[in-house]
Amino acid sequence: MKILLLGATSPIARALAMRFAERGARIHAAARDAAEASKIAADIATRSGADALWGTFDAADFASHRDFLERAIRELGGLDGVLLCFGTLGDEARALIDPGEALSLVNQNYAGAVSILTLAARHLEQQGRGFIVVLGSVAGVRGRARNYVYGSAKGALHLFTQGLRARLSRRGVHVMTVILGTVDTRMTWGREGTLLTVAPERAAASIFRAWEKKRDVVYVPWFWRPIMGVIRIIPERLFKRTNF
Ligand SMILES: NC(=O)c1ccc[n+]([C@@H]2O[C@H](COP(=O)([O-])OP(=O)(O)OC[C@H]3O[C@@H](n4cnc5c(N)ncnc54)[C@H](OP(=O)(O)O)[C@@H]3O)[C@@H](O)[C@H]2O)c1
Repeated sequence: MKILLLGATSPIARALAMRFAERGARIHAAARDAAEASKIAADIATRSGADALWGTFDAADFASHRDFLERAIRELGGLDGVLLCFGTLGDEARALIDPGEALSLVNQNYAGAVSILTLAARHLEQQGRGFIVVLGSVAGVRGRARNYVYGSAKGALHLFTQGLRARLSRRGVHVMTVILGTVDTRMTWGREGTLLTVAPERAAASIFRAWEKKRDVVYVPWFWRPIMGVIRIIPERLFKRTNF
């Protein structure tokens, strides 16, 4: 298997890529920072014994996506799967009052994903096989006062992958949406930990198991499905007064 890993510096991404590499997959680890990407590829190769390459990718640099993807596919010698793991909370408070920060969050979490997935999907559908795994968020299930800019980008990403799944399922390509709860990463560093926070390795193990079962939408960890089920049905007049 030849797999493109986008957002390779995320610990969830690295742990997930390791699961595939341990089964012999060839990984192309792409990140904004070339030095980090090369170290991550070397680490995956050393620990798994599989082949790993690296490249630079910026979700917000839309104009570079076509060349980036063509090069990655050439270097990998094909493409069987894409693991889309990039995302950012940015400055959540500033995003509520500054259109520049708000649009930057939308570009990095949503528009960048639309751009690269549209290109990758074209390749996969033409070959009639492959898969795409997209990391979404519970923040994308209901708009919250504190982080609705990030949440709306993730929510839009969920809808986009839902439609992509429906289209590509007829073309032999499987698309899985992962709705992540709180994971202990740089993204949540410095925030109050909760009992619901899990380690990146645990999240990656659940994502990999769900991928093996060809699930369409998976909550990781699983208990976020009932939690969000309840949060989703709270009437709007009450929800707007909560501090979730
Ligand atoms: N941690 C959580 O509780 C949580 C909850 C729900 C969903 N998620 C989602 O899980 C995924 C992984 O996040 P994480 O928790 O592992 O956090 P993380 O360690 O901060 O990883 C985020 C990744 O996204 C990359 N990234 C950010 N902006 C980018 C851009 N413009 N172009 C390319 N790459 C970019 C980062 O690259 P750099 O190293 O270059 O910054 C990094 O690789 C994200 O999609 C996140 O939204 C996380």
